Amino acid sequence: MILRKLNLYQFRNYERTTVEFSEGTNFIIGKNAQGKTNILESIYYASYGKSFRNNKDSQLVKEGHEKSYFSVDYDHDYGSSTIEVKLLLENKKEIRINHQPVKKTSEILGEFLAVIFSPDDLKIIKEGPVLRRRFLDREISQISRNYYHYLIQYQRVLELRNNYLKKNNEKSCDLIYLETINEQLIENGMKVVKKRIDYVEKLNDIIKEVHHRISEEKEVLKIAYVSPIIKHKDRDYDKIEEEYKRILNEKLSVDLKNNYTSAGPHRDEISILIDGKDLKIFGSQGQIRTATLSLVIGVMKITHRIVGEKPLLLLDDVFSELDDDRKNILLDYVKDYQTFITATDLSGIHLDKINDYQIYEVEEGKIRRRSFQ
Ligand SMILES: Nc1ncnc2c1ncn2[C@@H]1O[C@H](COP(=O)(O)OP(=O)(O)OP(=O)(O)O)[C@@H](O)[C@H]1O
Ligand SMILES: [Mg+2]
Repeated sequence: MILRKLNLYQFRNYERTTVEFSEGTNFIIGKNAQGKTNILESIYYASYGKSFRNNKDSQLVKEGHEKSYFSVDYDHDYGSSTIEVKLLLENKKEIRINHQPVKKTSEILGEFLAVIFSPDDLKIIKEGPVLRRRFLDREISQISRNYYHYLIQYQRVLELRNNYLKKNNEKSCDLIYLETINEQLIENGMKVVKKRIDYVEKLNDIIKEVHHRISEEKEVLKIAYVSPIIKHKDRDYDKIEEEYKRILNEKLSVDLKNNYTSAGPHRDEISILIDGKDLKIFGSQGQIRTATLSLVIGVMKITHRIVGEKPLLLLDDVFSELDDDRKNILLDYVKDYQTFITATDLSGIHLDKINDYQIYEVEEGKIRRRSFQ
């Protein structure tokens, strides 16, 4: 996939901008707080239908204005397309694909593929399980719309069960009714779990090699799906389902007390390991950064393999904390993909080794291509 043109109107600190990009590596350079990340944010939004910064849509509208509009023109294997986004202050949005409005934001998933690394992603490794689950869910949703629907279905049944737990205690609880809810929960939960296990397996195949190369070390990076319902390493889904059932029953009285379903995919997570040790506990800053990058590149390669199209790679502030060797290895590694890299400067970068690149300078909400190279 190649992003040809980005249009921004009253988006963040941009008034009105049109910018055309190179097929190869696009460096977006500027001092702090000038609008570099804002560019990546708009591209990401057109891919996922929301910001990666977890901001409200209204915060993306330029201060002092009522609405924002932005669009991407891109090429894919079968032709060219446009995605347009209109945001209104009252958190309303309209998205169009090739000028046709979409009814649900999820309809754009998989249309315009992009994968992001942002400094916030370091939290995937460092912080609690919620972010690791969100990472998995976000990436699987982008390549499988089914998965997105399974998740929503699962969450609906989970809410139903939690509400029932809230309103009842061990005496008032109708076990037959609960059994029906459990069946639905397990049916949907298993769909989610299967997709996640499958994804983790695929990601493992790729990140091992990626990490080895980027880190220049002999470290083995691995992720593991962690869930109380999975007892054995082998993928016997019947056994997993049995265990899921057993745990739901075993925990019923605790759940009734806490008004909450304590086990299931909404509580599962992944652990990220280097040489078998949990990075969250043992990882150095550099290791965490390199491992996160390997994960993101792994995601990009899986997306490419499964969807058959190359996603864009958005790298926000990726160079800080990387030594010059790693910066250049990274650039070499991603050179076959259209890449957008924000940085304050290009020190230590061997531009002569990159075939196809452009440099864009960003200053106070204005972006322009550097005309000489
Ligand atoms: N809704 C908005 N309206 C106007 N300006 C905004 C809005 N949201 C953010 N900004 C401005 O955008 C700028 C930050 O942009 P951005 O995050 O892209 O910076 P950056 O160039 O990536 O900086 P850094 O190098 O520090 O990461 C700030 O000046 C901020 O005040
Ligand atoms: Mg930034």
